[in-house]
Amino acid sequence: MSDLPETAAKSGTVSTSRQPLRIALAGLGTVGAGVIRLVQANAELIARRAGRPLQITAVSARDRSRDRGVDLSPFAWEDDMTAMAARDDVDVVVELVGGSDGPALTLARNAIAHGKALVTANKAMIAHHGMELARTAEAKGVALRFEAAVAGGIPVIKGLREGAAANKVERIYGILNGTCNYILSTMEDTGRDFGDVLAEAQTKGYAEADPTFDIEGTDAAHKLSILSAIAFGSQIDFASVDTRGISRISAADIAEAEALGYIIRLIGMAESDMGPDGKARLFQRVQPHLVPRDNLLAHVDGATNAVVVEGNFSGRLLFQGAGAGDGPTASAVVADIIDIARGMDTGFEADMSFSISVNELETMAPAPRGHRLGRSYIRFIVADRPGVLAEIAAAMRDAGVSIESLIQKGQSGQQGVLVAMVTHEGPESAVEKALALLDGSTSLVEPPLVLHILGA
Ligand SMILES: NC(=O)c1ccc[n+]([C@@H]2O[C@H](COP(=O)([O-])OP(=O)(O)OC[C@H]3O[C@@H](n4cnc5c(N)ncnc54)[C@H](OP(=O)(O)O)[C@@H]3O)[C@@H](O)[C@H]2O)c1
Repeated sequence: MSDLPETAAKSGTVSTSRQPLRIALAGLGTVGAGVIRLVQANAELIARRAGRPLQITAVSARDRSRDRGVDLSPFAWEDDMTAMAARDDVDVVVELVGGSDGPALTLARNAIAHGKALVTANKAMIAHHGMELARTAEAKGVALRFEAAVAGGIPVIKGLREGAAANKVERIYGILNGTCNYILSTMEDTGRDFGDVLAEAQTKGYAEADPTFDIEGTDAAHKLSILSAIAFGSQIDFASVDTRGISRISAADIAEAEALGYIIRLIGMAESDMGPDGKARLFQRVQPHLVPRDNLLAHVDGATNAVVVEGNFSGRLLFQGAGAGDGPTASAVVADIIDIARGMDTGFEADMSFSISVNELETMAPAPRGHRLGRSYIRFIVADRPGVLAEIAAAMRDAGVSIESLIQKGQSGQQGVLVAMVTHEGPESAVEKALALLDGSTSLVEPPLVLHILGA
């Protein structure tokens, strides 16, 4: 950090300076206002833990006149938030605006270019531009921190970078989107359909007015791609996350899953294996899965998030808590700021946002879809006529899919008959092949839905 008061950020000496760490806050919405409240409410204990007080010096948002429930009068106001990066009275820029590009990215780039540490909660920006930002931050010797970008208040990035740092991570998976989890667990509790519960979630503030990013899995995929990079030492590869959301899950799917001993959850999962060329490859998927009732994630209800990390020495670690909200998210943001304050004298915190140097992150090829072994739930809505079941069974047989159980049910008041099956363990590619054989069949009223079953 070029303009830290009195201390040389990379001097390697421990300074006794108690100069405050000076913060510029861009974005005063849910999280930004939460950060102000937290920094004020816990000022004393934070100063003791950080080794110096935290001092917000400048703030910015779109609308200066808006009442945010916090007193902004002690802080300088900047109409143009990107200008905060150049202020002399700022050590750390905290970006809480959002959006992968636009002003948030301009501010982030400017902050690093001016030698300021950058803290952000912006998963979209990190998923798309995290490598570039980390590279320039490392070259400049400034800290880049984004704990709040993944699973809100849960310290899962710190868990991976610090607590599990000695482990080879074998698999990481979890519930990374509170909106989807709220919708699915409410559908489960009430038997209501997706659209109905989504509308209620919007009214209650659990879902955005435009919920597309959440319900189509994009938000969870942003978070998963960030976790994968840290867990497996790979470059962020958001584009390769096989992403599907929850909008096709019906009340009938929830009921059938329940009868079979499962619940349905949107799961983000990443694992690394060796490809045939002997090189590590990365599998990343965000999809609704059937979760066995005895799985660690089966009890994660409502807007809660949870992440399971499987390390080769630590074993299975479960991180669980609030994945969103002003308090939890502010808690993660301020934890990053405290880390930076603690590292001011040594520069230690300026290094390795992704656990190893960004220049050492591998470029891993994406593992092909369907290479995994597993069990799947497949749901068809079919025409109510003879021969349809035989047609489906023939496609399964020809693709090498073995069926463990099958349910057939007329749907009251709806077109078509529901046929749901669970397969024995086999290559997921065989299921894809079976569905390809049925593609275009006039027996199917709508495209089949495949939900993989989360393995142990
Ligand atoms: N909310 C959560 O629980 C949560 C959890 C984890 C991560 N995050 C991430 O945290 C970030 C902030 O989320 P949030 O929920 O606090 O968002 P929010 O409530 O919508 O607040 C966004 C803030 O950014 C300001 N802003 C937007 N565009 C701007 C522009 N062009 N110039 C200046 N200011 C601008 C807004 O100003 P006005 O207020 O004047 O309109 C507002 O204060 C996002 O990246 C989000 O993904 C949020």
